Amino acid sequence: MTQTVHQKVVLAAHPDGLPKPSDFRMEEGPIPEPGENEMLIRTLYIGLEPRIRLMLNPTNDENKAMRPHGAMTDIGKVIPGTVLGVVVKSNNSKYKTGDIVEGFLGWQNYVVTDGEPHPTNNPEGVAICDTDLADPIEFIGPLGAPGLTAILALKHEGKLQQEEAVVITSAAGMVGSLTGQLALLLDAWVVGVTSTDKKCAYLMDELGFDAAINYNSTKDLGTAIKGACPDGVDYFFDNTGGEMADTIKKHMSKSGRITRCGIIANYNKTGWNQSEQFAGQFSVHNHVSEYAEARGTMSDLLKDEGIQYERKVFEGLDLAPSAFIGLLSGRNIGKWIVQVS
Ligand SMILES: NC(=O)c1ccc[n+]([C@@H]2O[C@H](COP(=O)([O-])OP(=O)(O)OC[C@H]3O[C@@H](n4cnc5c(N)ncnc54)[C@H](OP(=O)(O)O)[C@@H]3O)[C@@H](O)[C@H]2O)c1
Repeated sequence: MTQTVHQKVVLAAHPDGLPKPSDFRMEEGPIPEPGENEMLIRTLYIGLEPRIRLMLNPTNDENKAMRPHGAMTDIGKVIPGTVLGVVVKSNNSKYKTGDIVEGFLGWQNYVVTDGEPHPTNNPEGVAICDTDLADPIEFIGPLGAPGLTAILALKHEGKLQQEEAVVITSAAGMVGSLTGQLALLLDAWVVGVTSTDKKCAYLMDELGFDAAINYNSTKDLGTAIKGACPDGVDYFFDNTGGEMADTIKKHMSKSGRITRCGIIANYNKTGWNQSEQFAGQFSVHNHVSEYAEARGTMSDLLKDEGIQYERKVFEGLDLAPSAFIGLLSGRNIGKWIVQVS
């Protein structure tokens, strides 16, 4: 599937609420040439991530404090996102042809970069994947940001004791499903909150969660949380924020801890102050020095402890916008990935 033209998905219009296909546009041009100290990467896979939605808004009073380096995506610019690729030409001594690399390089089939860190979204820069640890595709899943987030948030904020009660929102997503399995390995009592019976069945039957709550069909989420965690919630791993999180927070035990991992409930909304709401949130990017160790741990867990996840692969860059819209609509279980070449 090696292509002879450069294809990229660019922003056609700033989305209003849930993005529409017409907010995105495919563009084609010549494959770029790497300059001095640069390399050309051919994209293999793109990992779809909910937070990209926030980067599609124009810079305004709500988000300007989150963007010390300026706009994330203007009209006509490539959609940001995590790429797993292979170096096909290199003028940079740190990278050689054939290296499998991961970085925040956008929805495109080829990209030229010097590999330096992206100021706010990838402090590691373009990382060379140690393919002895796992299959390359795992580096945008369990050995990438989602898995590192699960491991490092549990380590720094969860500090779980045996039999503590853990509640996870967006529990069937990539970060949520990994966090739940890690908590189960620590002998915690793990409760997942999600949107459908199918996802609840996945959490309990496939992953072994102790309980799962469908927030759409439960009459009263607070009562359901109290039923599942009668002594209170010892650790709340919150992927969504919003009203759901406010309800769960009312049921914390005295020693309860909260990881504010994400605010998906707000990603399609305007009228909220991002810098205020993200203040104090866990950020995996603050722990770059621990990535190598965490990747080693996750590699062992995948091989020896049966950690698993669902992965759906969409074939073709042109499918990235519709798959992304599906992710934001709650249609995914686990990780959604676009195969580009
Ligand atoms: N802090 C960090 O360093 C860090 C790093 C990586 C990711 N994150 C965050 O971690 C969270 C999970 O990321 P992920 O990649 O694993 O994605 P994910 O959980 O798979 O995200 C998609 C899921 O979000 C839920 N969702 C969508 N719209 C929602 C809404 N309006 N209200 C509530 N839930 C909604 C849906 O699950 P349901 O069907 O269950 O509703 C959907 O399936 C995200 O907030 C992400 O930004 C944070």
